[in-house]
Amino acid sequence: MDKKLVIANWKMNIPSKGIDHFLKSVIPEMTNLQYVQPGICPPYLFIPQLFELLDNSSILLGAQNLHYEDNGAFTGEISAQLLETYCSLVIIGHSERRHLFHETDEEISKKIQTASHFNLTPILCVGENITERKNNLSSKIVTSQLITGLSKIKKPNKLIIAYEPLWAIGSGNAATPTDIELMVKVIRQVMLEKFGVESQNTVQIIYGGSVSEDNITKIITLPNMDGVLVGNASLDPLQYNNIIKNIETITT
Ligand code: 13P
Repeated sequence: MDKKLVIANWKMNIPSKGIDHFLKSVIPEMTNLQYVQPGICPPYLFIPQLFELLDNSSILLGAQNLHYEDNGAFTGEISAQLLETYCSLVIIGHSERRHLFHETDEEISKKIQTASHFNLTPILCVGENITERKNNLSSKIVTSQLITGLSKIKKPNKLIIAYEPLWAIGSGNAATPTDIELMVKVIRQVMLEKFGVESQNTVQIIYGGSVSEDNITKIITLPNMDGVLVGNASLDPLQYNNIIKNIETITT
């Protein structure tokens, strides 16, 4: 059984008491994890620092975005080539990038292709907004994001799909287990159709949107749930530790 992923997305934040304090509280708790694979995606600026500090720990390091070109005149952007020195994961197509920075599925597909050429496992984020949900379009939207976003990939070595409904992100109210389970089924079916049965080994499906120490048990015990992508709660070492400990306890 693959370990459950618990990926922290710090967004444009750092833990309130600083990175050193965070890691001092978290790293000792992460030794001998049997059922959880933790990861942290900090702002770019802190990636080299975390790389040093996480040396010899089991925590994976990831970026929150990349540019699809390998290099060139792209002020303010960062390439896979630069990231792969430090990172093994990269978040692509987060809803905040889609909506605040107008990233399209087409651009996202190029980013996925680039990450896959380098040694970076893409975490492709998909999810519907509240209007789409009210109009019963959730499955259609997620399917279309997957089809276009993955259009440049023939067979992934490793791919993570994060179902993150926009209305759950930062709201304090996670999607219900029923909603999540339904969407995990939809995503798994699209993966089967696109990449065949092998996708059961190469594609992991995780959930993000107001995950906390209080709701992690209900979410992680859903069928075929491979992990979580955590925003706010991942900035607090106590909460982050508790999310991981809860999973270790359930799976034991
Ligand atoms: P919250 O956990 O703060 O809702 O954020 C979720 C998210 O966007 C992770 O990528």
